[in-house]
Amino acid sequence: MRILVSAGPTREALDPVRFLTNRSTGKMGYAIAEAGLDAGHDVTLVTGPVALQPPAGAAVIAVETAQEMFEAVRNEAPAIDVFIMTAAVADLRPANPSRSKLKKRELPRNEAGRVVLELEPTPDILASLPDWRSPRSLTIGFAAETTDHQKHALAKLTEKRCDLILLNDVSRRDIGFGADENEVHLLYPDGRIEPWLRMTKKDVGRKLIQTAETLWNAKAGAL
Ligand code: CTP
Repeated sequence: MRILVSAGPTREALDPVRFLTNRSTGKMGYAIAEAGLDAGHDVTLVTGPVALQPPAGAAVIAVETAQEMFEAVRNEAPAIDVFIMTAAVADLRPANPSRSKLKKRELPRNEAGRVVLELEPTPDILASLPDWRSPRSLTIGFAAETTDHQKHALAKLTEKRCDLILLNDVSRRDIGFGADENEVHLLYPDGRIEPWLRMTKKDVGRKLIQTAETLWNAKAGAL
């Protein structure tokens, strides 16, 4: 299979020295990319800035912003069989990033003396995949939740038209951002929910690649 994995956070510039980002470290995505390679698949890793070494053999596309990640995924999409979208893409970016460093005394303030930042939405890469991908391909999304986990993950499964969503409780330090272990629930479009006991992210990667192989073979057989 030709697998594309998105991983890590994105950075959205406020000015040349400051940016908005999140706590993603890329561990889950890199573990999946490695598992895909170990199983003999072609892996393209579209990655935001992280401190990890990409697995040998992956075609790496390093990006910084959500817009760059969107364009990289869109360019690769027609040739991909399985999309595994683990990236914690920033949902919002500064609407008017400054070319020069913002000086704090010169920032516009409201009546309360607060600096107000104007943000605009970034493209939703996973949700836009149906526009670019082959109908034979498989899309697997992640849902990072801190409350009403299954409700929110189910909404993402439907709204982003995924074949599978992995639900992740990111409020827990032992299994969330930066941890070596994960405890996920798999949500399928037919309503099935499969809990996976806590295991290393590497094991989640291995099991997920096996699951993707089964789903992709079933989908390819049905078409
Ligand atoms: N995702 C994406 N592009 C975005 C936002 C999210 O491709 N701009 C993908 C993520 O890689 C993940 C899934 O969508 O596979 C869900 O991401 P998540 O951060 O859990 O949810 P959001 O869509 O950002 O929604 P919310 O912030 O409301 O939870």
